[in-house]
Amino acid sequence: MTEHTITLRVNGLEESRTVPSNQTLLSFLRDTLDLTGAKEGCGEGECGSCIVLVDDKPVNSCLMLTVEADGCSVTTIEGIGDASRLHPLQSAFLAHAAVQCGFCTPGMILAGLALLRENPSPTEAEIRSALSGNLCRCTGYRQIIDAVLAAAAAMRGEAARAREEKTG
Ligand code: FES
Ligand code: FES
Repeated sequence: MTEHTITLRVNGLEESRTVPSNQTLLSFLRDTLDLTGAKEGCGEGECGSCIVLVDDKPVNSCLMLTVEADGCSVTTIEGIGDASRLHPLQSAFLAHAAVQCGFCTPGMILAGLALLRENPSPTEAEIRSALSGNLCRCTGYRQIIDAVLAAAAAMRGEAARAREEKTG
């Protein structure tokens, strides 16, 4: 089997590994780095449960080869917050009961994060469009949309407070 040595950044840490040329980025994250937040649902690019950010863009990691991420910066759900320091999107998903089985949640949150970084004040239609590649079999989507709207407001508030502190 052909192998390649690659270097990429995952959640801010540089990783140099020799990987099979046919390994998916999802497998690399889960099986090599033990970052199991990204989930394998369909394995065909249809469900979004495997979404991670590659150079800040949401990508179905089941469809990307690890070697294609050589030189890139990858962010997984583990890189945006943890139980002691939740990201506003994670807090909002909990507060709005937008998590049931949780299988879709990492992908939903990362797709939502990519949207909010580009568009801090999205409309409901823009959120639905940004999350159109993410399937959820449990929540019915209303709670997820409400969570992203609430997180957007919280993040705008945080940004405003940071600006105020900077300007004194
Ligand atoms: S597992 Fe990648 S899109 Fe479904
Ligand atoms: S919470 Fe179960 S699939 Fe979305």
